Amino acid sequence: MTARLEAASGYARQAQELILSRISGPDPSLSVTTKTSVTDMVTDVDRAVEKLLVAGIREDFGQDRIVGEEFGDAGGDGPYAWVVDPIDGTTNFIYGFPAFAISIAVRDLSQDTTVCGVVLDVPRDRLYEAARGKGAFVDGKRIQVTTRSRLSESLIATGFGYASEVRKVQGAIFSEIIPLVRDIRRAGAASLDLCMVACGELDGYYESGLWPWDFMAGALIVEEAGGKVTGGLEPSPGSAMTVATNGAVHDELRTLVVSLATGHGARS
Ligand code: IPD
Ligand code: CA
Repeated sequence: MTARLEAASGYARQAQELILSRISGPDPSLSVTTKTSVTDMVTDVDRAVEKLLVAGIREDFGQDRIVGEEFGDAGGDGPYAWVVDPIDGTTNFIYGFPAFAISIAVRDLSQDTTVCGVVLDVPRDRLYEAARGKGAFVDGKRIQVTTRSRLSESLIATGFGYASEVRKVQGAIFSEIIPLVRDIRRAGAASLDLCMVACGELDGYYESGLWPWDFMAGALIVEEAGGKVTGGLEPSPGSAMTVATNGAVHDELRTLVVSLATGHGARS
């Protein structure tokens, strides 16, 4: 697996260069279009980065499957699948708000597990890497989750989807969680929220409505940093709910999120 982890980090570095070459200031002249709603934006850079990642993977690991956010399934019939988000935090990228990343996970389809993952925080120039069973690292240094054990003293992140009806419910849940925790952050890139749990900049994170490319690499990085990642009612993280914590506050946050989601008629 080392070969795929090293390759993923190499592709992420090339992608970072491409992204940086297109940042001209807080208002870059990008070609911006929308996807599922007027709030859900995509740029020519998202597409160019995904093409670059797919080309690299195709050349080095011809049989592997590839699934990306912008172009979907790029084929391949091997036992490994690459799940890539060329830019996680596209809104931030467009505005120049400093929280966006390239996220790459490699899955072993026979085991249904993520075997390695990298998240490259472009503005902070930090490379998070993990391989299953080998620990999590940022820029080569081992990282670890916090040890805080009370939810009331925990810094928690969350995020919101692009559909207004979904946001209404997410906002209602948020308003009931905020009085019960130290504070809440919404940085705008799920992969980075997860990495911030992994390296102790946050104690926990929850979000509904994520896609596999948003959370797969970051989830492995949290687990390898000693944390815990689950769904709400489901054992595994997924589109219904993703809860990631330092482990110590996991049950408390998960129970709270599930009961609030249920109370608001939402899936978890
Ligand atoms: C989004 C970001 C955001 C999260 C959304 C995601 P994108 O990804 O991760 O933080 O709240 O749910 O869709 O669209 O910037 O790749
Ligand atoms: Ca994206």
